[in-house]
Amino acid sequence: MFNNKFVDSVLNSKEESRHKCVDILKGATSVFVMTGAGVSAESGVPTFRGKDGLWKNYSVQDLATPNAFKRNPGLVWDWYHWRQSIILKAQPNAAHYALVELENRFGRFLLLTQNVDNLHRRAGSKRVLEIHGNIFRTRCCKCGKLLSYTATQGAPVQLPQCDCGGLLRPDVVWFGEAIPQTIWTESLEYLNTAQVAVFCGTSGVVWPAAAIPGIAIERGITTIEINLEPTPFSSIVDVSIIAKAGDILPEIVHELSVSR
Ligand code: OAD
Repeated sequence: MFNNKFVDSVLNSKEESRHKCVDILKGATSVFVMTGAGVSAESGVPTFRGKDGLWKNYSVQDLATPNAFKRNPGLVWDWYHWRQSIILKAQPNAAHYALVELENRFGRFLLLTQNVDNLHRRAGSKRVLEIHGNIFRTRCCKCGKLLSYTATQGAPVQLPQCDCGGLLRPDVVWFGEAIPQTIWTESLEYLNTAQVAVFCGTSGVVWPAAAIPGIAIERGITTIEINLEPTPFSSIVDVSIIAKAGDILPEIVHELSVSR
């Protein structure tokens, strides 16, 4: 078992790291945040990796590649309908709301999310870029039209079709596909002027999003990471806090607000 000295040092270092984050953010006018599945975990939306991650029980090759959809669109849609049903029952959590408060505080702010669940927008975030798409949007395989789409829960599931007769697919980025170029360009341009970059709830292993912490560091931006476990970036960011996003983000926002 851990002795008290060890527990004290972990608690103190977490508190110290939190104060450090607050000091960094206090002096900033331009903030960039990148989030991943860990931010929605406390809303009950499963993450992809780590304990109980979706990729432990489901196959990327069968469900999240263009070939998987070509081979068996019904199977892929079943999986996306199931995920939609989980997300529809979920509510934004304290981490999502803390990020809305951060956005409201800073003159310049950009939130780049890898999440497709729409929870940042439902919480009230406005400057959001979805680098991996949105599970509540479809794209026609034939004409390319984008449409909002939520499956009617409980109804017999049919493959969604476009007016043009083409098959609709989830407008998400699958493995082997390019991310939207405009989102990438906008994010990198924003990083030219950002003073602080916060990475929260992402394992940092899926590219090209995983390149962003390194790019931020190269550009001399002060970097903060908040994650439940260490990631490839924990040792190179300025501050790394091992904690639940829903605990630490509201604490940081509160401390910022009382130290104005
Ligand atoms: P991952 O599932 O890879 O990583 C989630 C991270 O969040 C893990 O490192 C967890 O330890 C951490 N975590 C879990 N609960 C947390 C909490 N309450 N607070 C803070 N951290 C927590 O998710 P992503 O990094 O988002 O791609 O995955 C990247 C991409 O891989 C996803 O966008 C998806 C997936 O395949 C596509 O859909 C294209």
